[in-house]
Amino acid sequence: MDIEELMGLAKRRGLFWPSAEIYGGASGIYDYGDVGALLKRRFESVWLSYFVDTGRDCYLIEGSTVLPEAPLVHSGHASRFNDTIVGCSKCKTFYRADVLLSDAGISISEGAGTAEMDKAIKEHRVKCPNCKSTQFMPAKAFNMMIELQLGPEKGDRGYLRPETAQSAYLNFFREFNVLRKTLPLGLAIIGKAYRNEISPRQGLFRMRELTQAELQLFFDPEHWVSELGDLGKRTVTVHLYGKKEKQRIALDELVEKHKIPAFYAWHMGFIDAFYREVIGVPEEKIMFLEKGGEEKAFYNKIHMDIEIDIDSWGGFREVGGLHYRGDYDLTQHGKGSKQEMAVLVNERKVVPHVLELSFGVDRNLWMLLDVFFKKDSDRSVLGIKPYLAPYHVAVFSLQKEADLDSAVERIYKKLRPGFKVFLDNSGSIGRRYARMDEIGTPFCVTVDYDTVKKGSKDHDTVTVRSRDDKKQTRVKIDDLGSFIAERIAFNPYEYFKFN
Ligand code: GAP
Repeated sequence: MDIEELMGLAKRRGLFWPSAEIYGGASGIYDYGDVGALLKRRFESVWLSYFVDTGRDCYLIEGSTVLPEAPLVHSGHASRFNDTIVGCSKCKTFYRADVLLSDAGISISEGAGTAEMDKAIKEHRVKCPNCKSTQFMPAKAFNMMIELQLGPEKGDRGYLRPETAQSAYLNFFREFNVLRKTLPLGLAIIGKAYRNEISPRQGLFRMRELTQAELQLFFDPEHWVSELGDLGKRTVTVHLYGKKEKQRIALDELVEKHKIPAFYAWHMGFIDAFYREVIGVPEEKIMFLEKGGEEKAFYNKIHMDIEIDIDSWGGFREVGGLHYRGDYDLTQHGKGSKQEMAVLVNERKVVPHVLELSFGVDRNLWMLLDVFFKKDSDRSVLGIKPYLAPYHVAVFSLQKEADLDSAVERIYKKLRPGFKVFLDNSGSIGRRYARMDEIGTPFCVTVDYDTVKKGSKDHDTVTVRSRDDKKQTRVKIDDLGSFIAERIAFNPYEYFKFN
């Protein structure tokens, strides 16, 4: 699928579309419809079960999205959370410099300096995509945070948070004391973050308002995962910084040969299992890309992007990151707030280090549509895992008839308390199946004449059609709930076999 096709599907089937669409939409800001909001919730809840609920000392918190200025000055975002922009001298359109260059076929590092960007633009005589001029103003840094004025008149300066992570760092000290005063401690947040992206585009890839699911693991650097156990044999695809090629390598080897710390490699395996086993992404479509030099985020000691091969975005693209942030954030907030951030662990004072597991929910949602939407000669199916499906089951009647309609109503009411049920009585059965296939509904229940015919051997039974193999099974109405529940259940411990 290309971007237009995917956007078309998203609009047609109630997933997402530009905000304020009736006014012409807004760049990089999207609304989710019923089906999209449900799919997003499913991804978030599977993420939460797998990454947080299975963790021994991991907790979900929620921080405000509006922050005062001071924390973001001390976190470094006010001065360093920048992209390089360049403006056309003639038409005054501004571009993200690396995007302008890469669209012109010139590859340059995202973190290259302004002088390097200017040089590349001049050397390659890059044209302004808007007016075709080759004259550009000097490149400059542009801070990506969205600034706010809090209160009336000249109120206090604030910002919309640029990453959920900051809320976890700001709450660490209180949570450490409220919880068990032990390390490691995990604080997870699923919530909005805001970035004033210069070139929002490619659907949900570069948004100005986005949802992140991030888990900050605070740990004592002297006492954490030191062995990988069985997980060490797991192979992952990694492109290490400075190497020409990506490689398929066992996690044990990554630790021994490439000096990746065991705690870091362990979490690479944990993430790889999430994508391969829980979400079902084929092995060859997942890789870790190590960033170094100017491309590494300013707070990171080790930085790998989690990339998935997404056709509509032209290949491997970042959907998340595994970031070893050291004690950077707590030390900075300690200095800024004059609050002691060291905690007492086994009679030693330790400023905890942080390993961050960071995921863009919107990009992952796009990925689900891209990777799992399959078209064949007779139908289009979103083949996601049943526990990710927005609707668990649809209920139809074979024909519009009073007896059948009342049986449909009875089944709908019976299933609603435990499942998300779609009731559809419009159009042919074939069209109703097609609609459900496209949004990934794993089961369609059809009420027919035998369902309501007293004396028939199929009385009080229905046909359940399964999305993936189109197999039809006759199921007693009384057994429908357990039939569906068994097949849509998600148990993270089935996948979590590493502890
Ligand atoms: N707390 C670390 C952090 O925010 P990041 O690499 O800047 O790191 C994490 O962002 C994830 O958030 C990315 O891997 C991506 O999935 C998602 N993300 C970042 N910027 C985005 C944007 N403008 N639009 C959509 N998703 C974005």
